[in-house]
Amino acid sequence: MRIDVLTLFPEIFHSYLGQSVLKKAIERGLVEIYLHNIRDWSHDKKHHKVDDRPFGGGPGMVLMAPPVVECVEAVQAMADQPGHLVMLTPQGRKLNQAVVEELAQYPRLLLLCGRYEGFDERIRLILKPDEISIGDYVLNGGEVAAMVVIDAVIRLVPGVLGDEESSRQDSFSGPERLLDHAQYTRPRCYRGYEVPAVLLSGNHRAIARWRLMDRRRRTEERRRDLLESSTASRSGEGVRDEKTSKNSLGERGDAGLQPESPATETQEDSKQE
Ligand code: 6GU
Repeated sequence: MRIDVLTLFPEIFHSYLGQSVLKKAIERGLVEIYLHNIRDWSHDKKHHKVDDRPFGGGPGMVLMAPPVVECVEAVQAMADQPGHLVMLTPQGRKLNQAVVEELAQYPRLLLLCGRYEGFDERIRLILKPDEISIGDYVLNGGEVAAMVVIDAVIRLVPGVLGDEESSRQDSFSGPERLLDHAQYTRPRCYRGYEVPAVLLSGNHRAIARWRLMDRRRRTEERRRDLLESSTASRSGEGVRDEKTSKNSLGERGDAGLQPESPATETQEDSKQE
């Protein structure tokens, strides 16, 4: 996958791109990332100005259309195939794992980062970008949002994670888009909290069942909205029975899975592996 980032602050990306997962992916040729400074397309040869005050007044500065449009066109022409153009803006559709999966299908992405108070509207009208926001809060610019998009998308490029299973088992992945299940490692007992016995049983089917139940229970407790939107979008059956609070999976999701309370006998603590 090729990603071109169009920004006024390419330096912001340097340390992020040197980070281990990404660095290895780049070195192994799985991902190519190119940074372009929008300022290089400024029409102002002296001060390289790319922003100006808003017509109609108001605070801040607006990114001008000519340098941005011409930067996008020039960068598109730098490879054989044009890329899918993403504009990072708080006014875009909100990023989630389904959108990440959609973006990961493109062999080439262009990520257009804005700063200041926004983009001149003609940029949007001319380029018709896929406008994406990473959430309902305001950032100083699109750069951090672009790094979020890169980070999430890159995990889905075959070979990047090494273990292909790990991205499929992530929170929000799989057909139900559930949160992840609890994870445990050694020691088996810590401060009276035991690892659930089923995870030590070696019974892979029982472990898979426990994990699916744990994912449903956690999602129900923490992010009921995810269950509602996934069941509603699947078949319009996302109606919850108000009296039982059962979800449309027909379960409360917590049967037999109350949080582990500290075990009373703590002598076991010393017998850790
Ligand atoms: Cl993509 N850009 C900015 N400036 N703020 C944001 C955002 C993007 N997503 C959420 N807030």
